[in-house]
Amino acid sequence: MGDYYKTKESVEEYIKLAKNFDGQPFIEKLKQVLTLQSSLLEIGSGPGTDWKILNEFYKVTGSDNSSEFMNHLVSKNPDGNFIELDAISLKTEMKFDGIYSNKVMHHLKDDELIESVRKQNEILNLNGIICHSFWKGEGSEIFKGLFVNYHSVMSLSEAFRKYFEILSVEEYKEFDDNDSLLLIARKK
Ligand SMILES: C[S@@+](CC[C@H](N)C(=O)[O-])C[C@H]1O[C@@H](n2cnc3c(N)ncnc32)[C@H](O)[C@@H]1O
Repeated sequence: MGDYYKTKESVEEYIKLAKNFDGQPFIEKLKQVLTLQSSLLEIGSGPGTDWKILNEFYKVTGSDNSSEFMNHLVSKNPDGNFIELDAISLKTEMKFDGIYSNKVMHHLKDDELIESVRKQNEILNLNGIICHSFWKGEGSEIFKGLFVNYHSVMSLSEAFRKYFEILSVEEYKEFDDNDSLLLIARKK
């Protein structure tokens, strides 16, 4: 992966660019399938905007694989729970009732996503729920030095169905109509 999320300057830039975006609508959907106060892992918390909302409803552990974002998360939320964690290997002894991410999993190559999905299944409790957003499209590209993998309803179904019962994959608008997909699924 490139350095975009790893330097102080680019992390500050991302925090400014993303300040008017949050996952409130997804969190409302998550609340319909994941009991309030369940334990929840957020992967790629970044600026921590969604972490703050999730923290009102769940026992959340925020995470990121960027130490710059980790420093930011811990300094802004000194009472919060955060762990440095890679989305692919997900090396943790902890188990969760749910896993959430907002625009993180698209940085994983196809084989990395498969590995992440297998690990997500492993670190979830029985009937665990996942909720992840993706950019919709075809193929992949490098943007700001970062790998970006685009997904379709079909590619997500293929990547997740071995380990998860897919409850919904819905299109939504981040910048342009239907430019994004939200997947909600339950551990098999
Ligand atoms: C587009 S930002 C999204 C941040 C936040 N979820 C939001 O909605 O604003 C992607 C985030 O995922 C993190 N990230 C990228 N690849 C990762 C990986 N392999 N493991 C863990 N975090 C990763 C980045 O450091 C960054 O915080």
